[in-house]
Amino acid sequence: MVDSDYKLPYGGYNIMADKNIIHVVGTGTIGEPLIGLLCDAKEDLEIDEVTFYKHSPILTDRPKIKGLTTRGANLAVRNDKVKDFQELGLEPMYGAEEAIKRASVVIDCTPKGTGLMNKEKYYNKYKNKIKGFLAQGSEFGFGKMFAVGINDEAITPKDKFIHIVSCNTHNMAVLIKTLGIENKKNHLKEGRFLCLRRANDISQVKSFIPSPEVGTHKDEKMGTHHAVDVHHLYKTLGINLNVFSSALKLNTQYMHCIWYDIKLDKKITKDDATQMFIDNPRVAVTYKTSANLVFSFGREHGHYGRILDQTVVVIPTIHVANENEVIGFCFTPQDGNSILSSITAAERFMFPDSYEDKLKCLGAFLLQEV
Ligand SMILES: NC(=O)c1ccc[n+]([C@@H]2O[C@H](COP(=O)([O-])OP(=O)(O)OC[C@H]3O[C@@H](n4cnc5c(N)ncnc54)[C@H](OP(=O)(O)O)[C@@H]3O)[C@@H](O)[C@H]2O)c1
Repeated sequence: MVDSDYKLPYGGYNIMADKNIIHVVGTGTIGEPLIGLLCDAKEDLEIDEVTFYKHSPILTDRPKIKGLTTRGANLAVRNDKVKDFQELGLEPMYGAEEAIKRASVVIDCTPKGTGLMNKEKYYNKYKNKIKGFLAQGSEFGFGKMFAVGINDEAITPKDKFIHIVSCNTHNMAVLIKTLGIENKKNHLKEGRFLCLRRANDISQVKSFIPSPEVGTHKDEKMGTHHAVDVHHLYKTLGINLNVFSSALKLNTQYMHCIWYDIKLDKKITKDDATQMFIDNPRVAVTYKTSANLVFSFGREHGHYGRILDQTVVVIPTIHVANENEVIGFCFTPQDGNSILSSITAAERFMFPDSYEDKLKCLGAFLLQEV
């Protein structure tokens, strides 16, 4: 982005300085549904305005932008691209930097590295005025890591920059929390995870692969970044996890799937583990073993196809070995879990004393069974 002093067609800077404005930067796989959900739940979440930044004026993206503005979000673009958007029949309401400036909370949903760049160039400039900034999965180093229901107590009023962890990190984190953490005590002896990733999202045309592609282990101690991230997430609570992950990509567009092997320092039965998953409100359970059935269920019963659970645990795959080791499979609701953590953190910035009540409106998308 570049600085932009594009003059508003509808007023001046900060006309809504005392209003609650959420600004989303990026309209991709995560940005688009996030903007949509914020608009749909605007009233319950007590948001006065949702604004979003669109980077490229692309003809095929026109219906997406029109759809989002019809749902109530206001478009911001770079000053030097206003004309290009106008030529597409789209009327930007704010300049890129101006939209940041007037926001209460900024949620960055751009590709790897861009969020950090935006922080340096723009967000730091306004950090005393804006309540908080969030960035997504790939922006390691943006701020304190967060996943709702996992490390809420680690976030303090000093944390203006929050890094919402990736979808698979949410999934691994909730498996560990459900089975291994009891009253803040860590019972996890060792956690091993295999992330079976979908090649690309159904919204993307690039990066599909013709056959499974295995990943290397870049981290000497923990394998792939998934274990590294979950380790750092729990570190915010002072918990040191012994975890290792591997990853591979599958030639599918549907869902990520995770194989887990969670070894505890205490005995556990298959019935105990099953009940613990059922009892966790952030976990959906399923008897379905096929990703397309789980995905399709979300399409019917989620918000525009998305369920907001952190994982979908496949009950028939739960297996207990050596009386202390739980092994099984689960599916990752890929963007739903990050979206819920993003909205939670944004609401918390704006309403530190009452955000939990406001978030109840999203409860319908936290399914208990799929
Ligand atoms: N995809 C998921 O399921 C998922 C789940 C959890 C977390 N995440 C995380 O979310 C982040 C975004 O991923 P994504 O899958 O949503 O990416 P994406 O689909 O590729 O979308 C990226 C968006 O960023 C915009 N953009 C590109 N360059 C930009 C720049 N220089 N300045 C501002 N905006 C720019 C793009 O705009 P234009 O198209 O207009 O150029 C696009 O709207 C990543 O950190 C990812 O790890 C993704």
